[in-house]
Amino acid sequence: MTHTPKPVRKAVFPVAGLGTRFLPATKAVPKEMLTVVDKPVIQYVVDEAREAGIEHFVFVTGRNKGVIEDHFDLQVELEHTLRERGKKDALDVLAAALPQPGQTSFTRQQAPLGLGHAVWCARDIVGDEPFALLLPDMIMQDERGCMSRMMEVYRETGGNIISTEEVAWEETHKYGVVEKGDAVAGGFKITGMVEKPPQGSAPSNLFINGRYILQPEIFSILENQASGAGGEIQLTDAMLTLAQSQDFHGFTFTGRTFDCGSKEGFIKANLAYAMWDRNMAASLGPELRQLLDAIKPAGS
Ligand code: G1P
Repeated sequence: MTHTPKPVRKAVFPVAGLGTRFLPATKAVPKEMLTVVDKPVIQYVVDEAREAGIEHFVFVTGRNKGVIEDHFDLQVELEHTLRERGKKDALDVLAAALPQPGQTSFTRQQAPLGLGHAVWCARDIVGDEPFALLLPDMIMQDERGCMSRMMEVYRETGGNIISTEEVAWEETHKYGVVEKGDAVAGGFKITGMVEKPPQGSAPSNLFINGRYILQPEIFSILENQASGAGGEIQLTDAMLTLAQSQDFHGFTFTGRTFDCGSKEGFIKANLAYAMWDRNMAASLGPELRQLLDAIKPAGS
């Protein structure tokens, strides 16, 4: 790069998904508000964006998602009561999660037409600047956040960045998958991508794990994007078009990703984050060992 790329100030969070896999838990509670240990899933993702220097948080919501807006607002009565009772620790927890006034925007997707459509719904709020996109089903565990590491690559390369991660070959059909080209600062050139490739046809086992830095030209492509895999307007298809005129770089995340869109992933996330906390690990460890010991070997 000969010039510094435009800073990434805004992040988009598509949170309109119905969460049918978690019914009845998600009948009245959005799936993004299910908790991993003591924080809602969406809070992990917003915290990751904040750590990466994001200043404005754009939520693409749907019906029955109002509680997400409440979660990122001041809870005046609660704070008043906590203050009266001298609960400083609880007040600090609330303060750490709260965006500054004016730092959040909410828009509605209205109809579940796919991820590409959800991202397109944020076009007016994002405007003509690069933006981060974080899919809230995925939470990433590492000493430093995935988006913060991606920003480092972006500052070197500019353009568009997609975070990827290795997955078992037989799982590739569940995700977007990239084709890996030459190495560039902190990452590699992306030479192709495909959404949900049929079994055995993936160009690599590097899947798109839900973190992107994208240039605003993606919006005009999404505007006319035909539906793709699963009959949905796919972001991957639009990125493939944008890749004809702009660079796409891959970043490989080496921490742990939990797909909280599945029950197993969600439970694994709870276990991993609980065990990451030294105090909780001390009391949960023996319990987990007991549970494991109680599993009878198959056929016994
Ligand atoms: C979306 C993206 C896909 C990506 C995945 C990560 O798929 O389209 O490229 O790999 O998120 O979770 P979805 O999970 O919406 O089917």
